[in-house]
Amino acid sequence: MRRQPLRLAILEATRIFEEAGVPSPRVDAELLAAHVLGVDRGSLPLIPLVDPPVIEALRELVQQRAKRVPLQHLTGVATMGRIDVAVGPGVFVPRPETELMLQWGLDLLEGRTGPVVMDLCTGSGALALALQHERPDAQVYAVDNDPQALAWARHNADRRVEAGDTPIKLYSGDVTDPRLFSELDGVVDLVLCNPPYVPPNADLPPEVLDHDPPQAVFAEDGGLAVIRHVVSAAARLLVPGGGVAIEHDDSHASAVPALLKTRTVLGDVRDHHDLAGRPRFATAIRGAAD
Ligand SMILES: C[S@@+](CC[C@H](N)C(=O)[O-])C[C@H]1O[C@@H](n2cnc3c(N)ncnc32)[C@H](O)[C@@H]1O
Repeated sequence: MRRQPLRLAILEATRIFEEAGVPSPRVDAELLAAHVLGVDRGSLPLIPLVDPPVIEALRELVQQRAKRVPLQHLTGVATMGRIDVAVGPGVFVPRPETELMLQWGLDLLEGRTGPVVMDLCTGSGALALALQHERPDAQVYAVDNDPQALAWARHNADRRVEAGDTPIKLYSGDVTDPRLFSELDGVVDLVLCNPPYVPPNADLPPEVLDHDPPQAVFAEDGGLAVIRHVVSAAARLLVPGGGVAIEHDDSHASAVPALLKTRTVLGDVRDHHDLAGRPRFATAIRGAAD
């Protein structure tokens, strides 16, 4: 069979995605083509013609994506900071907007040696592993209560160690447990948390509703049920001068800072926007010991 123009296959995929309501149809078409070819997206213009098996493999993935299977489930990876993590059914797909919280945490740790870091609700381990990659001297703890998520996190943690990173400390635990990591009370420099925070019954795209685990997405109490406990845990765990960052729903720009302000030991409470200008995470700093 004859080789075929890659450009036409990408145009066809883009058209199919537009009809299926896939956000970013052209980008997804290019990313899937790059995945099939095993190259960076930027290299696609250097590949004018491809073999028929490539077109066939691309068509199969395009059919899946048109059914709104998440792009990252098809490529098998998601990016956080400067690392990739493996993702798929049973674990939440890390989102680009969470990288801003990672950067806030890294900035806070500037100038501290051997910091203790906690990633509550770690999912695939993305935040914990990205932070550990940047700060080999940190002791990074990561916790989740979902066995399937923990299996992905263990897989990703093992891959990062093989790549030369310091091992993270991965635990099964419930962040609503008031005694969680009580042996670390008052010694943690940074608490990062991207918890489930979407109010129940919210209208969400099929990629999220049908493929992210519900316990990773939704929380009772208008989306605040887990966050309340994370605020308590942070107030207990942080060392004076340590900081907490909690990602939240865009409807919680006031509610999460208000929860942080209820803790007298926490100060400098701020809310931060994502790159789309939506309220996305709140931060606070533990004041001097009381
Ligand atoms: C939104 S996902 C975030 C995953 C990861 N931090 C990220 O940014 O990609 C929330 C995670 O919290 C976990 N989770 C939900 N409730 C929890 C609880 N009470 N204790 C521990 N983990 C919990 C879920 O299993 C899920 O993996």
